[in-house]
Amino acid sequence: MGSDTLTVIDNRTGRQYEIPIHDGAINAPDLRQIRVSEEDFGLVSYDPGFMNTAPCQSKITFIDGDQGILRYRGYPIEELAEKSTYLEVAYLILHGELPTKPQLDDWSYNVIHHSILHENIKKFIDGFHHDAHPMGMLVSTVGALSTFYTDAKHIFDAESRTKQTYRLVAKMPTIAGFAYRHSIGMPYAYPDNDLSYTGNFLNMLFKMTELKYQPHPVLERALDVLFILHADHEQNISTNVMRGVGSAHSDPYCAVAAAAAALYGPLHGGANEQVLKMLSEIGHKDKVPSFIQKVKAGDGRLMGFGHRVYKNYDPRAKIIKKVAYDVFELKGRNPLLDIALELERIALEDDYFIKRKLYPNVDFYSGLIYQSMGLQIDMFPVLFAIARTIGWIAHWEEMLLDPEQKMKIARPRQLYRGAEKRGYVPIEKRK
Ligand code: SDX
Repeated sequence: MGSDTLTVIDNRTGRQYEIPIHDGAINAPDLRQIRVSEEDFGLVSYDPGFMNTAPCQSKITFIDGDQGILRYRGYPIEELAEKSTYLEVAYLILHGELPTKPQLDDWSYNVIHHSILHENIKKFIDGFHHDAHPMGMLVSTVGALSTFYTDAKHIFDAESRTKQTYRLVAKMPTIAGFAYRHSIGMPYAYPDNDLSYTGNFLNMLFKMTELKYQPHPVLERALDVLFILHADHEQNISTNVMRGVGSAHSDPYCAVAAAAAALYGPLHGGANEQVLKMLSEIGHKDKVPSFIQKVKAGDGRLMGFGHRVYKNYDPRAKIIKKVAYDVFELKGRNPLLDIALELERIALEDDYFIKRKLYPNVDFYSGLIYQSMGLQIDMFPVLFAIARTIGWIAHWEEMLLDPEQKMKIARPRQLYRGAEKRGYVPIEKRK
């Protein structure tokens, strides 16, 4: 085995360079020495969409896209989904170790007891139009929290980061619940600190006139598993945005608002909403073949399919499919399931999808469950954002504590393809 270096010959000059390799990567700045003259800026790496660029080192989540492997801090997602709870997994993602009983009790107590929102937030949410998209309300409201917690700017103070973490993990479900109730014209249902994290969220969504909402254990557990599956996913675009905004030393509320805005996109966390619209548009399993033909002709995409990293079945989709049947047993089979199963069956046999390694991803089945739980489809990305908040915070904190990153603002280069230098033309002389 040779040395951990890359030997590069620049055929423009005949010069040879040795570039060190570490962890299967080279440091892009090492390319700058490769130049044709003293004035030359030197080589940069060009990678639109970050197809093959690592902007950071991280210890939080490991994905092997070819093997369909996903691990949080080394623990396989399958085991965590089966044996853990969302709050325990959130602690693991944030701190790197599974909590002891006292640690979990302290963490759960603090999260549960930060769920109430400042009363002025209600006025903020009241101001939205009756048909405002809940994601638009969530993005705006979590950003507005930065005006209530000015201590959040002390990003290098561990105690302040911990307090903001409690507040964000605790208040995202409350904001989501208030946004949902606003969108259906119902009075806000306040948090109930006697309930579990997901039980309380169901309470803030569905409490009617009963004195105390009793969440159904099957739905409580189904949401807990769904939140575990959505908690983190290494450098997805919303996490990359969280790290990018955080690198400018913005406060965590503004950074989470930006990350949630990225998640809202239909190619990212907004896909679960698009899947339901797509299944409803197909309407019947007999219409699946003609829909597939349209997609193969380049007319639209099969939402909920494909992934930048997974070139195998998304392990989360397999687990979600199992959760779906638990919910359908209680709530009745979602009629759109047959269309989804037929779509998956045909797509997994079709060369167009096989060649492009397009498999169902985490968004393909999650919406069917949320719909069966009684949620309107524009709430689906909101649930994704609630679960992913801990992943965003963990990456934000890892970046702030990384000596290589803490003082380095994320500022990519570009390849300039615009006009060369030219003189100003007075308006009367312009054509
Ligand atoms: C999430 O990054 C993460 O980790 C994200 C996420 C997380 O947990 O944070 O996993 C959550 O965002 C899941 C993805 C949800 N999005 C969707 O389901 C939307 C539909 N899928 C895509 O648009 C697409 O697959 C992406 C955005 C997910 C990935 O896109 P890539 O890796 O940039 O792939 P690409 O767009 O370059 O496509 C490669 C080829 C193209 O065909 P050709 O130009 O080579 O002929 O595959 C085709 C694409 O047209 N293709 C699809 C397709 N996805 C890609 N064709 C039909 N249907 C699709 N869904």
